[in-house]
Amino acid sequence: MAQVLTQLTGVPRTMLMTTRARVEEHQRADALFRDPKAFEWWQSIAWDSKLDRLWSPISQLSWAVRAHIFDQMVQRHLATHPDAVVVELGAGLSTRYYRVGQRCQCWIDLDLPAVMNLRRQLDQETAQHRLISQSALDFSWMDAVPNCPPEKLLILAEGLLMYFTLEQVQQLIQQLRQRFPHATFLFEIIGGASKGRAAKVLAELGAPMQWLVKDEHDVDGMGLTIAQVRSLLQENCRYPDRLGALRWFTWMTKLPAFRNASLLLEAKLLPL
Ligand SMILES: C[S@@+](CC[C@H](N)C(=O)[O-])C[C@H]1O[C@@H](n2cnc3c(N)ncnc32)[C@H](O)[C@@H]1O
Repeated sequence: MAQVLTQLTGVPRTMLMTTRARVEEHQRADALFRDPKAFEWWQSIAWDSKLDRLWSPISQLSWAVRAHIFDQMVQRHLATHPDAVVVELGAGLSTRYYRVGQRCQCWIDLDLPAVMNLRRQLDQETAQHRLISQSALDFSWMDAVPNCPPEKLLILAEGLLMYFTLEQVQQLIQQLRQRFPHATFLFEIIGGASKGRAAKVLAELGAPMQWLVKDEHDVDGMGLTIAQVRSLLQENCRYPDRLGALRWFTWMTKLPAFRNASLLLEAKLLPL
């Protein structure tokens, strides 16, 4: 496959890190999951060395664990609703459809044009697997979601909402509640206490994290029923062999600052 030029900047560039994390996971003997499609695509993508400062074995583990947990949540949804409709907002080069999604009725991957132009050079759109090149905040994408009973609809936002302002998050959730009441929404929130070095580097790279929370109670009042909350740092502790010296500090993930550094939430959208 020919080399695909990536001249991504800002938040779109960050998807190179999560894609690389899955490619490296795929190649491990003890991989949490296999991702041959990401591995295939990666052969024609150039890594951006500006992201080196955000890359470490622990960040790779975290992004792989996060992808794995979202996969499990999707698999559980599809086990109950094999003909579900799944929408991935800010999908980047997510290959979740290929890993766990192929029994759905329809899967939509949505991202900004800069990312989708790249993705279209690698991926093949089909009637079942659709690509939308548009901001998640341009709510007209909702018109493209096939009609289905609300309990079958699953909307994902992995590594996305922290790049929006609080007002943008509120508007998005309000629109989702209006258009898709009772649907399931899986998303990640980032604790404000983790506004350390990584946040500084992201801001320098033009991808500032804008919506940072104290904990999951910050979404109280947004019209969601939270069914499940998982702390990503606590989930990482399931793999002590991969934590290096940090394995001696897993107790710290009980402290709020670490517990809330990244929370993965499964929620139902309440009607407006
Ligand atoms: C950290 S990456 C995560 C990509 C993917 N979800 C994953 O986990 O591999 C963030 C993604 O959000 C996308 N993004 C940022 N702002 C967006 C917006 N307004 N609408 C849709 N996607 C957006 C970026 O282009 C990028 O692909």
